[in-house]
Amino acid sequence: MNVLVIGSGGREHAIVWKLRQSPSVDKLYCAPGNGGIAGQAELAPVLADDLDGLLRFARSRKIDLTVVGPEQPLVAGIVDRFEAEGMPVFGPTQAAARLEGSKVFAKEFMKRHGIPTARYRSFDAGQREQARKFVAELIPPTVVKADGLAAGKGVLICASREEANRAVDEILKERVFGEAGNQVVIEEYLEGEEASLLVLTDGTAFASLPPAQDHKRVLDGDGGKNTGGMGAYAPAPVVSRKIQAHVEKNVVMPLLAGMREERMPYRGCLYVGLMMTERGPQVLEFNCRFGDPEAQVTIPLIDGDLAHILLSVASGRLEKDAVKLHPAAAVCVVMASGGYPDRYETGKVIRGLDAVDPEKGEVVFHAGTRLQGEQLVTSGGRVLGVTAIGYANDLAGTIDAAYRIVHRIAFDGAYYRSDIGKKALRTA
Ligand code: AMP
Ligand code: GLY
Repeated sequence: MNVLVIGSGGREHAIVWKLRQSPSVDKLYCAPGNGGIAGQAELAPVLADDLDGLLRFARSRKIDLTVVGPEQPLVAGIVDRFEAEGMPVFGPTQAAARLEGSKVFAKEFMKRHGIPTARYRSFDAGQREQARKFVAELIPPTVVKADGLAAGKGVLICASREEANRAVDEILKERVFGEAGNQVVIEEYLEGEEASLLVLTDGTAFASLPPAQDHKRVLDGDGGKNTGGMGAYAPAPVVSRKIQAHVEKNVVMPLLAGMREERMPYRGCLYVGLMMTERGPQVLEFNCRFGDPEAQVTIPLIDGDLAHILLSVASGRLEKDAVKLHPAAAVCVVMASGGYPDRYETGKVIRGLDAVDPEKGEVVFHAGTRLQGEQLVTSGGRVLGVTAIGYANDLAGTIDAAYRIVHRIAFDGAYYRSDIGKKALRTA
């Protein structure tokens, strides 16, 4: 079959890399892709938010399966557009993608279906007084969230009531997130360790990938600013088999049933962001797609033909037990441009990539690279997802293996965290 992957980050590189190994894939395209993806797929010069252009491209190349990486096109309704033309596409419809596209929708849905999540209320611009009253009821820290997509910046953890009121004003009055701030969610702060469970589902049947843990802060020890994610590993021992079964029973199953009942069955990858609290696992957020960098550590652990699996999800016939997993662990260390997530320079030549050995479970997923003539240069904040795949019972060895690859790669100003995966060694 001919397959089109939409997106240009490390997540999309992991999808393309795995699809390239599928015996059922003939032509593989990525729109718009990046310098590393170019090694495994033909790049199509169409941006991920150009739905008309993507549809035209898919028609012209007789694409049999389209896999959507990022959330924006999903929330904009790309799946509805492709399905209206009878073209199989992996991802939820616009209605179902609201689980990520609207935090108010997600919280109300969880309340209707008894899914464990932080206590909250939502407010619009005409309800700022009520919002202040609710802030006064909660014990700080308090979490204030813009309703819509805000490129990962729409969540503000406020240490005091003054700060929370300020955040509400910024979102509802000053409109710092534009339309995404038509409403806010104000919720209680949950204490605990975070983890994510990614689930492939055709709306009824589902298969969980190994639980993963992202590292969102820029500095070692989870300090400094939030980023798109500085690294990840899977499986994360903080989500034991017992906890995973609990989450499947109390979150995933009621969610899928609820979405079917409300006539918007959820197909695609459901990302469940969890906080492990004293009250048990609570949902922080849903995403309507693979996580980045969680995809880089979970997709390599799938044992089987990814194109076949994703097509069965897209066409509503995911077979039970179709998704086999390698008894392995994966660790991804993100190498970023110096200065990220603030200002950084691009165009730096990347050296050492030929010293990576796939035979030894080493793989480098590109996030922000482009080809300049024959040379690969940096083109973004997060540049590479340096990934090692090792034995399931040897996470410590797999972490070391990932850093050994990192030490062979160089570009001017390269920055990475040196403690990816360390938390797991404490839990284990
Ligand atoms: P969200 O986009 O809702 O996941 O929020 C982004 C990040 O903010 C999460 O990954 C958490 O680190 C943090 N966060 C969100 N909601 C809460 C909460 N209720 N309590 C504590 N931290 C939270
Ligand atoms: N790793 C978090 C996300 O993909 O949203």
